[in-house]
Amino acid sequence: MSVSESARDLARPVAVEPEWYAAPPTGCQSGDIAHVILTEAQINTRIRELGAAITRDYWQAAQSGPLLAIITLRGAVAFAADLVRAIDLPVELDFISASSYGSSATTSGSVQILKDLDSDLNQRHALIIEDIIDTGLTLSKLITMLDARQPTSMRVCALLDKNKPCPVRNEPGRLAYTGFSIPDAFVVGYGLDYNQRYRNLPYIGVLKPEIYSPEQQR
Ligand code: IMP
Repeated sequence: MSVSESARDLARPVAVEPEWYAAPPTGCQSGDIAHVILTEAQINTRIRELGAAITRDYWQAAQSGPLLAIITLRGAVAFAADLVRAIDLPVELDFISASSYGSSATTSGSVQILKDLDSDLNQRHALIIEDIIDTGLTLSKLITMLDARQPTSMRVCALLDKNKPCPVRNEPGRLAYTGFSIPDAFVVGYGLDYNQRYRNLPYIGVLKPEIYSPEQQR
């Protein structure tokens, strides 16, 4: 399976520009948001592009069976719900939960699998759908664990990337699809949380630093 030139362009991350930043729309949680970095419309447009790239790349592979979308709980649920509907191929869904953050806004560095897949990965084409790559530790751990189950292929589609050095980035072709590259700030909304809040915001915004307790600040 090869990625065509035009699909590769669609798969490349779009860099979020500071000129895009906007005040949050009025709402009960908007007072906690410093600024919006991605609107609902920008997210939707990009997801249609990612869906088109995935459809094109997996078209042939899908002749031998549905693509298995591995959705990481809980942050990727909103993204995955929209992304799978932008993929014009047979797709099966499965869920996995790994934890590396606890309730703070900084990574703990340790990763724990809380819920495993129900599906057999052996000889399947699988696509891990991830919300955000920060340190990449969670994803790296997942890939090591899931690779041992011998899927035919296993690539990653991440909505956001903070562009830090991480092992997954060094594996050719693994991080195949990325929505946006974003600055190194703590963001919430569209599935992403702080202490389980803000997941239902329709946009992605930077959380005001005063929302963190002092010891949790970066
Ligand atoms: P990583 O292992 O550091 O790449 O990140 C693990 C998980 O932490 C991600 O899948 C997210 O669920 C969460 N995370 C990382 N950065 C942020 C952020 O800026 N906002 C909200 N959650 C984040």
